[in-house]
Amino acid sequence: MFARNDSTTPDMGKVYDDFAEAFRQSDQLPTWKYVGKPAMEKLLGPWLRPGVTFLDLGSASARVEAGLLIPHGVRPEDITGVEISPEQVEMARTRIPQATFVVGNIADPLLLLDNPASFDVVFSHMVFEHLSDEQLAQTCANAYRLLKDGGVFAFVVTHPIKMTDVNGDLVTTYGEFETTAPWGGVLHNWRRSVEQTVETLKQAGFKVEVTEDVPFPKTAPAGLSNDDLTAFNAAHEKYSRYSAIRLAVRAIRPEQ
Ligand SMILES: C[S@@+](CC[C@H](N)C(=O)[O-])C[C@H]1O[C@@H](n2cnc3c(N)ncnc32)[C@H](O)[C@@H]1O
Repeated sequence: MFARNDSTTPDMGKVYDDFAEAFRQSDQLPTWKYVGKPAMEKLLGPWLRPGVTFLDLGSASARVEAGLLIPHGVRPEDITGVEISPEQVEMARTRIPQATFVVGNIADPLLLLDNPASFDVVFSHMVFEHLSDEQLAQTCANAYRLLKDGGVFAFVVTHPIKMTDVNGDLVTTYGEFETTAPWGGVLHNWRRSVEQTVETLKQAGFKVEVTEDVPFPKTAPAGLSNDDLTAFNAAHEKYSRYSAIRLAVRAIRPEQ
């Protein structure tokens, strides 16, 4: 049904297939628990409730669904996820059987062609850095087509000021580079400015409401276990040198 790769996507599905088991541990990453998850929660706050329909672009093993959507009362049957790695899709289906997870390329112009204007919210967490500029533009066009009038497009990505290459060196040029994922494996990522991301959204027809630079928190939340506090402190040591590690964006498909 979907093209798994195109000429500009190195075999992303295979990378995430190979690391599917390791990526399962990603629920425990401090960058998810203390940065990505609260950032998504802030972006999606008013929509995190029963009766709202969600499409997740790059849903992997359903970390966002299990950690955020379901605990807020979103109904599993109102959730659709698209993911390029079949292994990850299997894990997501096992985790939340009543939701719909499909293998697909979010940058495919034919993405969910039978479901135009059918979602209240399209969201994505830590995926668009894997897309070339052309793929991001097509993905935004897909999100616009799949959202209802007045629908919300919200995503969190690695902030362009903290992108590092395979050697751990800061990437300062725009465009494609190779990096290492926290769970292993080499990934091809793209670095683009915040302004370029905003412009891509506008070109697709969106009204951009929020762009927020999200840092790693200065202090640990109260009540952490010793193990969690150790992990928090190690991550703080690593990330506190950056003024932001994530970029959070929310845009609206204007009412016609
Ligand atoms: C860092 S993971 C994030 C997964 C998930 N959003 C989360 O936060 O747990 C990136 C995911 O995006 C998927 N991905 C990358 N490019 C994709 C594409 N073009 N279409 C669909 N999925 C893609 C990868 O296979 C991987 O599962």
